[in-house]
Amino acid sequence: MKAIVCRKPGRPDVLELEGIDTPSFAEDGLLVKVRASSINPVDFFSLSRVGFTASRVSGGFRRKPVVLGTDFAGRVESVGNRVTEFKPGDEVFGGRSGGAFAEYLSVPANGAVVHKSASLSFNQAAALPVAAVTALQAVRDHGKVREGQKVVINGASGGVGSFAVQIAKAFGAHVTAVCSPRNVETARRLGADRLIDYTREDFTLSGSYEVIVDVAGNHSWSEYKRVLTPTGIMVAAGGSAHTVWGTNRTIKHLIGVRMASLRSTQKAALFIAKLNKADLLVLQRLLVEGKITPVIDRCYELNRVPDAFDYMGEGHAKGKIIINV
Ligand SMILES: NC(=O)c1ccc[n+]([C@@H]2O[C@H](COP(=O)([O-])OP(=O)(O)OC[C@H]3O[C@@H](n4cnc5c(N)ncnc54)[C@H](OP(=O)(O)O)[C@@H]3O)[C@@H](O)[C@H]2O)c1
Repeated sequence: MKAIVCRKPGRPDVLELEGIDTPSFAEDGLLVKVRASSINPVDFFSLSRVGFTASRVSGGFRRKPVVLGTDFAGRVESVGNRVTEFKPGDEVFGGRSGGAFAEYLSVPANGAVVHKSASLSFNQAAALPVAAVTALQAVRDHGKVREGQKVVINGASGGVGSFAVQIAKAFGAHVTAVCSPRNVETARRLGADRLIDYTREDFTLSGSYEVIVDVAGNHSWSEYKRVLTPTGIMVAAGGSAHTVWGTNRTIKHLIGVRMASLRSTQKAALFIAKLNKADLLVLQRLLVEGKITPVIDRCYELNRVPDAFDYMGEGHAKGKIIINV
């Protein structure tokens, strides 16, 4: 099969389209013919020295090629003997750590994979897993957003932010979206009640919010704190850096915010999204009911994954970048 293979850590231009063995699958696993994937900042981590080494270690140090890509949507090709939930031909989507930038992907049947509704395209389904699950868990589980609350999404037009705006609206919040001028219209279409162009206005200088969902990571705790209500919460989903080396900076920022918040009545929550079947189904239902719509910025063919990385690396994607396989 064809796959985007990483044989050494580095910039996206180390990635090559190669012919490699189709993955094997366990008795409780599925082989999925991938139709679409999408790119996420976490995929940059896999290109870093630490991420690449981690993939090698989890592969048992065999010199197996490392295939990147987390989100997938496609059709089940084969299933293991013990699988009852899926059968060949079923349309599915989900996420797993690595392997999705390829024609075939093996997934454990009890992992983060669910049946895809016929009303979703493969591109729409592939846009959901990492970004929309992160947005859902930020808004619902960590922000505990309720009807009528004032919520600000800092970084509202990217993958996570564009879903966070829509999910917070679906939960009945009054949503302020912070984005660049070229994305103000997109954020308005997603349902934001108030828009802040960050090139003209610093959202931390005025206002009062019960919940801040931050994916841009460009303010200090003292700045977030002054626009939180006395019992407000800042949910830190990410940072601004989109490079192979960016993860370290993001982690430093997140830990700094969390440490600084420890003695405050206002809280900061850090989290790493957990991909799971239940949340994929919640998101699919919101999409089918018309409450969320994935914003798809660009689609790239599999052989152009390095270009997709370069575009995401600019840090200003509008919604999701899809990889068509
Ligand atoms: N915690 C987790 O489990 C988890 C999961 C997924 C992602 N993340 C993290 O979340 C972050 C965002 O991921 P993503 O997929 O949404 O990335 P993305 O699609 O590239 O979006 C990033 C957004 O940040 C906005 N931005 C850049 N500078 C900004 C600024 N100064 N003020 C406000 N917004 C700004 C950009 O909007 P403009 O174009 O309008 O500037 C862009 O749309 C990353 O750091 C990622 O690592 C964390």
